[in-house]
Amino acid sequence: MSSGPGSEPPPPVSRWREPARWSLRARLVAAMAALLVPAFLVVGVTAELTLNKALYDRVDDQLSAAANRAPRGFDDRLPPPGPRDCMQPRARQFPPGQVIGTLAARICHGTVVNADVLVEDGQPPPVVSGLDATLLAVPVDGPPSSHDLGALGEYRLIARTMPDGVVFVTGLPLADTKETLYLVAGVVGGVSVLVVLAVTYLGVVIVRRALRPLSRVAATATRVSRLRLDRGEVVLPQRVAEADADVGTEVGQVGAALNRMLDHVGNALEVRHASETQVRQFVADASHELRTPLAAIRGYAELGRRAREPVPPEVAHMLSRVESEARRMTRLVEDMLLLARLDAGRPLAHEPVDLSMLTVNAVSDAHAAGPGHEWRLEVPEEPVTVLGDPGRLQQVLANLLANARTHTPEGTLVTVTVGTCGGQAVLEVSDSGPGIPAGLLPYVFERFARGDGSRSRTSGSTGLGLAIVHAVLSEQGGTVEVDSAPGRTRFTVRLPRT
Ligand SMILES: Nc1ncnc2c1ncn2[C@@H]1O[C@H](COP(=O)(O)OP(=O)(O)OP(=O)(O)O)[C@@H](O)[C@H]1O
Ligand SMILES: [Mg+2]
Repeated sequence: MSSGPGSEPPPPVSRWREPARWSLRARLVAAMAALLVPAFLVVGVTAELTLNKALYDRVDDQLSAAANRAPRGFDDRLPPPGPRDCMQPRARQFPPGQVIGTLAARICHGTVVNADVLVEDGQPPPVVSGLDATLLAVPVDGPPSSHDLGALGEYRLIARTMPDGVVFVTGLPLADTKETLYLVAGVVGGVSVLVVLAVTYLGVVIVRRALRPLSRVAATATRVSRLRLDRGEVVLPQRVAEADADVGTEVGQVGAALNRMLDHVGNALEVRHASETQVRQFVADASHELRTPLAAIRGYAELGRRAREPVPPEVAHMLSRVESEARRMTRLVEDMLLLARLDAGRPLAHEPVDLSMLTVNAVSDAHAAGPGHEWRLEVPEEPVTVLGDPGRLQQVLANLLANARTHTPEGTLVTVTVGTCGGQAVLEVSDSGPGIPAGLLPYVFERFARGDGSRSRTSGSTGLGLAIVHAVLSEQGGTVEVDSAPGRTRFTVRLPRT
């Protein structure tokens, strides 16, 4: 258990976080981009498929027309009349109307007799060879089909049978069609990527601007969460700005709700502070007022015991009991008064105190009070000086040493060590006693927290000793920790050095 200022551990560094843990801003932008990508994909693919069909339909129409014209190119040169020997290759000629690149082939009895491609005037005709297998594979009198003609590129081919059994294969190049399709695919794809990037960037800007009020509301809540609300008079000046608390918007509703909650919390804290102050004042006043009558009771009891006239032994015993109980009550009242003053924030002195000397004196007093215990003291040669209130620090030491004495059996070894660690002075009080009960350990610094009630009460225990240690050290910027097990109990006090 410890008191005093503590530092928050740094947040864990992680590279990848699940989308569910992303910020709202990142999630909104990612969702927008994730919706845009499939939308553009659907539009692009649909456009490409539609264009593909339209272009191929157009090529097929042109191919039908070209196939109708094709036989004329060969028939013109037929020697009329005469036996038609289809196996004779004919001179190449294309009828008017055929476009550049048109392929015309004549198949006779399963043999490709002619195969030519129409080229611009003056251009050398391309070598049309090695295509027999492809041309023969074109379904005769079937629909147009696409074929790869090697060096000539991809062609749309159609085969028609003439009445004399000759098959004419006509083809149109698909290069332009393919080029158009690739161009459109490239443009649609490129534009889609650019639009997605632009929309994502704009989305980041818009979402950031839209969520800015929410960030301001969160900043207000964070500032409030950093305030110490658990004690004393708390002022809650933090509020969400009017502009961010407009209930017409979702963020405004959060801002307005936060403001209302802060109003309520502020009022509740004021009421709590007022009632705390009242109770504290009452305890302080009562303790203060009790000191005088208690001193009087103690004094009269002592006087009575020491009266010249001999008093009966029972009366002497009763008077000594009155005296000891009055002493115990005085201590309780003093402790309560000190705690009430510390609670009220009454400042203690902050002056250089020789902790080594203070410890030596305290151990010496403890030795005198508990000669049955074994006391060991380890103090460095160099004096250890801390900033604090000498009277209160002496009380801290006295309380810890009194515990080591009163809550352990005689013969217990108590070791007190003074040392330094960085900018801090470290004081350890350890004993080899039975230890603090495990059930009490988490609450041992709370007020009126006591172990074995019957044993403690006979020894005048009130359960305020460690609460005072904790409160004094908190006020002086120090800490106290305890670890305890049967056979070893150690209190570690840390205080800033001068
Ligand atoms: N060194 C110790 N060994 C065993 N138990 C301890 C030790 N120090 C504290 N305790 C336990 O912690 C309890 C609280 O201690 P604390 O000093 O606050 O009160 P107290 O000693 O009972 O009374 P007071 O100090 O007010 O006279 C004690 O009652 C005791 O049970
Ligand atoms: Mg004690």
